Amino acid sequence: SNAPKVVFSGIQPTGVPHLGNYLGALRQWADLQSSASPSDKLIFSIVDLHAITQRQAPEALRLHRREMLAAILAVGIDPNRSIVFEQSRVPQHAELMWILSCGASTGYLSRMTQWKSKLGVGEDADAFASGNNTPRLKLGLFSYPVLQAADILVHRATEVPVGEDQAQHLEFTREVAGTFHSSYGTVFPLPKTVLSPARRVMSLRDPLQKMSKSDPQPPSRILLIDTPEEISKKFQKAVTDSEEGVTYDPRARPGVSNLVQIYAHMQRRTDFHNVANELKDCTMKELKDKVAGIVIEGLRPIRDEYERISKEGDRYLEIVAEEGARKARESAEETMVLVRHAMGL
Ligand code: ADP
Ligand code: NA
Repeated sequence: SNAPKVVFSGIQPTGVPHLGNYLGALRQWADLQSSASPSDKLIFSIVDLHAITQRQAPEALRLHRREMLAAILAVGIDPNRSIVFEQSRVPQHAELMWILSCGASTGYLSRMTQWKSKLGVGEDADAFASGNNTPRLKLGLFSYPVLQAADILVHRATEVPVGEDQAQHLEFTREVAGTFHSSYGTVFPLPKTVLSPARRVMSLRDPLQKMSKSDPQPPSRILLIDTPEEISKKFQKAVTDSEEGVTYDPRARPGVSNLVQIYAHMQRRTDFHNVANELKDCTMKELKDKVAGIVIEGLRPIRDEYERISKEGDRYLEIVAEEGARKARESAEETMVLVRHAMGL
């Protein structure tokens, strides 16, 4: 349709993002910015209030917020076109979260899988589900999908680019919006889930696990600012198998197939079987060299831009963050005026 879109997405301040974050999220943000109509609104948030559901050292959090902002700019998000902001600077997010939590079902929340895996211990999750005492489960970790719903709804977003693992939370967001509407009337559009073509980039160390910030042990992940040498080294150490030639078969050959996928995604291709066929006569060493080469070339401008931004210093990033927060507060407050009025607040 031709109605203006409002795109919203968020990323936790986990420091310099890895290749999975880039192909699964950040590159898609930049693509959406390029293809947007002038009347579309694009809003990208560094979701620091989500990061604190797990304890953070203050100095590390401060640094990681800055690094993530620099990375978002380095991949091509233009702060004059898109609103880029830190969630904690926009109090309307937390305000709407409280309001939505008054109508959110704890039963629905307890069925969500993400917090269970973040808890790390299945027993705690099971104990919680059966109503037993679970001192390790914090309220914030349990209820963060309500904050995520607020993040999206407070800007009346119409499309939300997310990874596969977040699709469940988008459903919950629509549910929470529906509950609000049946009590107070319609305020929010129901946001659509937009899945990235690169849904799961796998770890180079263990191709059965996704590439993740929680596995820093080399060669598991490529960081956007890794040097060409570091990138080559990690790919050379990537776990593959001892079969000859290249094929695409994620089940039987997860390591090789992950390399094929990365090679394809770097070229914005998703026809993995064709890509594998084009590489079929490569040895493992040749395959790894090719993938490393294309990743090095693809990340080079990002790394250069990241360095340029870092040289501009904290003051430049602080100005960008403050200006983004100001625009985000304006966008969020427009919604909150409607919400408070609808509720008699
Ligand atoms: P991590 O999974 O490393 O903890 P986040 O949960 O902060 O990273 O994810 C930030 C964004 O990057 C999300 O949109 C998520 O779906 C995407 N993402 C993270 N890891 C991957 C991956 N391995 N492959 C594809 N997308 C990913
Ligand atoms: Na994740």
